[in-house]
Amino acid sequence: MGPDELRAAQASVTRRYRFAAAHRLHSDRLSAEENRRQFGKCNNPNGHGHNYVLFVTVTGAIDPGTGCVTDVGKLDRLVSETVVARFDHQDLNHDPAFAERTTTGENLVLLIWDLLAGRIQGGRLEKIGLIETRDNFFEYAASIDRGIRSNNAAAGKELHATAQSQ
Ligand code: NI
Repeated sequence: MGPDELRAAQASVTRRYRFAAAHRLHSDRLSAEENRRQFGKCNNPNGHGHNYVLFVTVTGAIDPGTGCVTDVGKLDRLVSETVVARFDHQDLNHDPAFAERTTTGENLVLLIWDLLAGRIQGGRLEKIGLIETRDNFFEYAASIDRGIRSNNAAAGKELHATAQSQ
């Protein structure tokens, strides 16, 4: 393998993070009965909590000098400050980003994607994975969405502005 091939080689790195948060699955667009039918005990008014496990995958060219695709320390700081600090030991239903969206795992991985996309130094955000319960795992990646939300760099900036104004 020559130097050009070495420069072109791509790989992915995935880091794991944890946060605990409370939520209640409830949509203002549904009636009380519809909410109960859709969400079951997850709609109980007192809410409940999860120990979330978050996976952030970054893909990029392997730096020939370091052998890495990204600076893991910088990635850890970014995720800790942007995601973990925002959600850990909080009620997700009180987060302004969920003012009009239910706090499902699907919406959570979308939000986390928007919070991180465009802010990764070295490599690009490839995938967000989130374990909510023993039996629930959620994923979001631009490749899953096939570009439907490709303009969300702008949406991400709005979310940052919302978070910073809190
Ligand atoms: Ni839940």
